[in-house]
Amino acid sequence: MKTVYVGMSADMIHPGHLNIIHEAVKLGEVTVGVLTDAAIASYKRLPYLTYEQRAEIVGNIKGVERVVPQTTLDYVPNLLRLRPDYVVHGDDWKEGVQQQTRQRIIEVMAGWGGKVVDVPYTQGISSTAMNQRLKEIGTTPEVRMKRLRRLIGAKRTVRILESHSGLTGLIVENTGVIVDGCREEFDGMWASSLTDSASKGKPDIEAVDITTRLHDLNDALEVTTKPVIFDGDTGGKTEHFVFTVRTLERLGISAVIIEDKVGLKQNSLFGTDAVQVQAGVDEFCAKIRAGKNAQVTDDFMIIARIESLIAGKSVDDALERAAAYVAAGADGVMIHSKSADGADIEEFCRRFRQADVSTPIVAVPTTYNMRTEDELAEWGVNVVIYANHLLRASYPAMVGCAESILRHRRSLEASEEYCMPVKDLLNLIPGTKQ
Ligand code: SPV
Ligand code: MG
Repeated sequence: MKTVYVGMSADMIHPGHLNIIHEAVKLGEVTVGVLTDAAIASYKRLPYLTYEQRAEIVGNIKGVERVVPQTTLDYVPNLLRLRPDYVVHGDDWKEGVQQQTRQRIIEVMAGWGGKVVDVPYTQGISSTAMNQRLKEIGTTPEVRMKRLRRLIGAKRTVRILESHSGLTGLIVENTGVIVDGCREEFDGMWASSLTDSASKGKPDIEAVDITTRLHDLNDALEVTTKPVIFDGDTGGKTEHFVFTVRTLERLGISAVIIEDKVGLKQNSLFGTDAVQVQAGVDEFCAKIRAGKNAQVTDDFMIIARIESLIAGKSVDDALERAAAYVAAGADGVMIHSKSADGADIEEFCRRFRQADVSTPIVAVPTTYNMRTEDELAEWGVNVVIYANHLLRASYPAMVGCAESILRHRRSLEASEEYCMPVKDLLNLIPGTKQ
C-alpha cells in the first residue's frame, strides 16, 4: 500500500478539501497533517477552530487514515519523518508565494522517490471570501474572550493596537499587509484609558467612568471579532473592581490590565513629572486576588501592571512586585517605562524570564519605539501594545484640515490634502448602501 500526505489548516472544510482527500485516497493510505495554531499564525490569522477541533473533524472524513500535527508551515519535517510516496495538494500552489514551498517538497521527496501530485483547484470556492463572510457574521463573547490566550499560546508576538471607536475597531479588524508572503495583521484591540479620555476631550485621570467607557467600547465590539485588552487604570476600589471583572467577562473582553498605583491617577508617560504613588504590594495583591475570585470563566485574564520604573524606582523593585503579583494569581504582567531606549524593560524581562518562563509579559513601547517586535520577543515579551497611535495619527490630520479651511476660506485645499473622497467614505462601512 502506497502512502499519501496531505497538509491542511482545515479551519473551514469545503468541497475543495474533500476533493483533494478523495484524489489522495485513490493513490494510497492518507495521512493528513493538520497545521497547528502556531503554524497557521506564523503566516495568517489564527483559525477559528482550535487544533483539537480541526484534527477531530479531519479525522472523521472518509478516507483519512490518520491525522498528525504539522507544527510548521514547512512540510519538510513531517515528510522526512513519514517519507510518503505522494504529497497531494491543490494546483493553486503552482503560482504565487507557495511555488517555492512546492519546489522544495518536490526536491525533498525525490530523496526517496516520492512525488508531488497537483489536484485541479475546485473553482468557485474561496477561503478568503468565506473568511470575509465569517467576519460579517461576527463572533460571540465567549469565542472572542478565549482568543487572547490562544494567540499568546500560538504566536511569538501578539500585536495589539489601540482602538477608541467603532471606526478604529474596524481598522484593527481589517488592516493587513503582505510581507514576504505572510499576511501581517493586528491581533486585537487595546481599550486605552488615555485615548478613551482624550477622544472625549477629558484628561486621563479616571474621570471618564468605566460604565461610559464600556458603553462606547460596545461600538467596536459590534463590528469586530478580534480580542480586546481593557485598560482598567488602577482598577478602582477593590470592592468595585470585582464588578468590573464580571462586566468585562460578560462582554467577552479577554483581559483587564490594572496598574499598581493609588491616589489620583496620572498618565504614566508623565513619569516622575507627575505624582505617581505606587500601591503597597499586599494591597495590590489583595485586589488581584479579589478579581480572580470574582471571575466566572477560566479564560478571562487579569494582568498586573507594574509602575515601578514609571515612579522612578529600580528594576529590582519591579521584579519583586512582579513575582508577588503572579503569586497572587495575576495571569500576566505588564511592565511599563518611559525610557528612551527600553534598556530597563530589557533588563526586567530577561531577569523575570530567568525565574519565570511562562507568565506572559506585556510591553507598551511608546517611548522606546525604535525597538522591534522581534527584539522585544527576544527579551521575553509576549504581547506588544501600540497604545495610542491611531488617535495620535488622526488628531494632527484633523487640525491640519481645520486650519486649511480657515486659511483658504474654502475646503478645496483641505479636501485635496487631508480628506478621503466622499465616495470612499460612503463605501467605507459595509452595508451603507441598501
Ligand atoms: C493608556 O494607553 O491609557 C495606557 C498606556 O495606560 S500609557 O498611556 O502609556 O500609560
Ligand atoms: Mg491608561
